[in-house]
Amino acid sequence: MARAASRTKQAQVKAAAIGRAKAVAPELPARIGSTPTTKFRGNPAIFGRLVEDHDKHRALLAMIEATSPGDPARKTLFEAFVRDVHGHAAAEEQALWSSVMRNPQTTEFARHAVGDHHKLDKLMADAAARDITGPGWLRRFATLKAEYLDHILEEETEQFVEAEKTLSEQDQRYMRKVFNRRKKAEKAAAVIEKKIALKPIG
Ligand SMILES: [Fe+2]
Ligand SMILES: [Fe+2]
Repeated sequence: MARAASRTKQAQVKAAAIGRAKAVAPELPARIGSTPTTKFRGNPAIFGRLVEDHDKHRALLAMIEATSPGDPARKTLFEAFVRDVHGHAAAEEQALWSSVMRNPQTTEFARHAVGDHHKLDKLMADAAARDITGPGWLRRFATLKAEYLDHILEEETEQFVEAEKTLSEQDQRYMRKVFNRRKKAEKAAAVIEKKIALKPIG
């Protein structure tokens, strides 16, 4: 099992991830509040790499929420979030969930995570299709934010925990490499889909 990083290292890794989000719009605050306790932050293999992205996404979500309707940074941040999440989710499926799904012991955990990705795609497409400068946009965004935070909380505290039990340290390190390679390609190819959801997404 890959050993847990020290608290100082965990704090540094989290601050660096938030810093990468801040680079998109340095003038906005990124108050992510408390994050779920996870042993994976700072982990040198796949799970640490995924939490690093999750922290960056937490910061982007907090920053979007801090924008006013007419602020052009809202669109910049939202698009940065959607592209990064598309790249992250596709690479996560290819590097991790496909293998985890193949193992009958963990099929259900992988299925749950991938199912969440579909739901989040719809929520992002719906938010992208609406008027981002309109007064009601943040309300829709709040649903997306809550769903995304819930998804990464579950990954960090349930699905990664179960997946880790069935993967060797070597597997986990190799998966990190695959993830990095695939995320780069998937993110470069990501398109921001716009589609109004006619029924509530759930
Ligand atoms: Fe994830
Ligand atoms: Fe995910």
